[in-house]
Amino acid sequence: MARKKHTDGTGGNNGGEGGEGGDGGDGPREIGATERNTERAWQTALRPRNFDEYIGQRDLIENLKVAVGAAKQGKWTLDHFLFAGPPGLGKTTLAHVIATEMGVNLHVSSGPAIDHKGKLAALLTNLGEGDALFIDEIHRLHPVIEENLYPAMEDFRFDLFIGDGPHAKAVTMQLPRFTLLGATTRMGLLSAPLLDRFGFHWQLRYYDLPDMKAIVKRSARLIDIEIDDDGATEIARRSRGTPRIANRLLRRVRDFAKMESDGSIDGSIAGSSLDRLAVDHAGLDSLDRGYLSSICERFDGGPVGIESIAASLSEERGTLEEVVEPFLLQVGFISRTPRGRIATAAGFQHMGLVAPSKAPTGGAGNQGRLF
Ligand SMILES: Nc1ncnc2c1ncn2[C@@H]1O[C@H](COP(=O)(O)OP(=O)(O)OP(=O)(O)O)[C@@H](O)[C@H]1O
Ligand SMILES: [Mg+2]
Repeated sequence: MARKKHTDGTGGNNGGEGGEGGDGGDGPREIGATERNTERAWQTALRPRNFDEYIGQRDLIENLKVAVGAAKQGKWTLDHFLFAGPPGLGKTTLAHVIATEMGVNLHVSSGPAIDHKGKLAALLTNLGEGDALFIDEIHRLHPVIEENLYPAMEDFRFDLFIGDGPHAKAVTMQLPRFTLLGATTRMGLLSAPLLDRFGFHWQLRYYDLPDMKAIVKRSARLIDIEIDDDGATEIARRSRGTPRIANRLLRRVRDFAKMESDGSIDGSIAGSSLDRLAVDHAGLDSLDRGYLSSICERFDGGPVGIESIAASLSEERGTLEEVVEPFLLQVGFISRTPRGRIATAAGFQHMGLVAPSKAPTGGAGNQGRLF
């Protein structure tokens, strides 16, 4: 199952502009219909719609509840918020949840989709008073576009030049008050001036085992799959602390359960299905293991530069940095040093290899916290 970094802003969650009134609403969830549709429709159907349905990230949710509650009470527009973290942890979901809780429209776009100033102007002038604008992959905004966003964020104004050359005339448009919700998988790539203009930014964390179990059970309930505690634990443990992966694995295991037993999921069917899907007991898939084995075996435990690892795997550097490394760092299988990446003793051990004496311990502490 491919886990790719964001490639471009067109299509999927990241593309398209204009009002997407949120997938909120209280209607029943038409899983039967969406089941026949795409992966994305399925994930959307399982998306929590309000603070109460949003599992985990408790500190963040508490902070957001206060901010949203105060804004609603004071009848002011919510501040601009930025959410950072690896793919699939719930950043887009949060934007929808916030818009639903505020009772405002959510307009959705992404950094790469806003490829010229006119598009930004169209997006901003389409906003209604108090609306929220969600910009996914905001670190990929063109610098020129970014500069045009500053006055919009600070003073709700947009400067336009009409005409060309010496006859060009500057026109300032007043915009409605709005909330910018930004999401990024690469906080480090965000420019300081843009970061400064957010009232609040937050790094989402990988979910711990109890939260992951709750997410698996909730999804199973919503799509009417019977699952016992062991089954939920097995899927939760192998989902890299990531709700999107949990939902995906649940669907795959559901297929095995349907074909090979009565359709209900227990620990053993979950375990055997996930083994066959090449997802190991720590949730590493073939790309993660390829990465780890490249450092351990090909590069003798490191230190090795990311470009060399990418070349050895014929993989894009960005995919490794955004998708593979954050989790391996989190569980302590690798470590980053000024001279490059190194595999820890825990990383060697996970691959069934004997660690050289130079390898740092890594692992256990972090892993214990997650699982
Ligand atoms: N806290 C949560 N509780 C339950 N389910 C969640 C939670 N967060 C995310 N999900 C599920 O995971 C899926 C992925 O979440 P989402 O699309 O918000 O991730 P993302 O951080 O925006 O990822 P990307 O960086 O790839 O855009 C959602 O469809 C939702 O079903
Ligand atoms: Mg998203």
